[in-house]
Amino acid sequence: MASFLIVAIDGGAASGKSSTSRALSERFNFLHVDTGSYYRAITAELLSRDFTVATLAAVPAALPSLVFGTRVNVRSAQMEIGGRVIPETEIRGAEVTAAVSHFAAVPEVRAALLTYQRGQADVARAHGFGGLIMEGRDIGSVIFPNADLRFFLFADVEARTQRRALEGRADAIAERDRLDATRKTAPLTIPVGATAIDSTYLNLEQVVDKISGFIAAKLA
Ligand code: CDP
Repeated sequence: MASFLIVAIDGGAASGKSSTSRALSERFNFLHVDTGSYYRAITAELLSRDFTVATLAAVPAALPSLVFGTRVNVRSAQMEIGGRVIPETEIRGAEVTAAVSHFAAVPEVRAALLTYQRGQADVARAHGFGGLIMEGRDIGSVIFPNADLRFFLFADVEARTQRRALEGRADAIAERDRLDATRKTAPLTIPVGATAIDSTYLNLEQVVDKISGFIAAKLA
């Protein structure tokens, strides 16, 4: 029986990672870490400091002034920057959504988050969770290549656009995927050995049940 499980869930924009991960974290009492929200928080912070996608070259010099912390809110980890959690409305807003893939492609931004993200497993243990569900683009490939379980979610672009429209959010999904998949550092990719799940014709419960089966088998 595994005592603490690390589950990596990667996938493209609006592939259902967040709702799936949230439901799994409830089912198994694991800590849920949405690393996209971390890239979004850093982007929001830098935009508020007047950085833009045109001034990315100046970003590395600003990174040491970002002091990261973690707040655990029920079963979700939230990033603090300088002791403050940036509100969801801001990190999910149109301005951040349009800019985040550009900031996330800066190698120094990714390097600044690497140890922090790995440290989330210790945060989960310290709070008594039975495991960690971490979702993102490079979790199974770079952050936790030795995770106990690694999944890659995908769905065709029409289904994903429809999901965002139902949430009332504008999002250039295909463009973000293109930027995320073509960047040099830690591009979006199906990690070798990960279980790929096509959610185009599956609802949330079906995806959650599928992954739950793998987790339950590991815990048994
Ligand atoms: O929720 P959604 O799939 O729309 O995106 P997200 O998970 O909130 O991630 C926002 C952006 O952060 C992505 O488009 C990537 O550019 C970046 N990201 C990343 O580069 N690496 C990760 N591990 C997670 C997100």
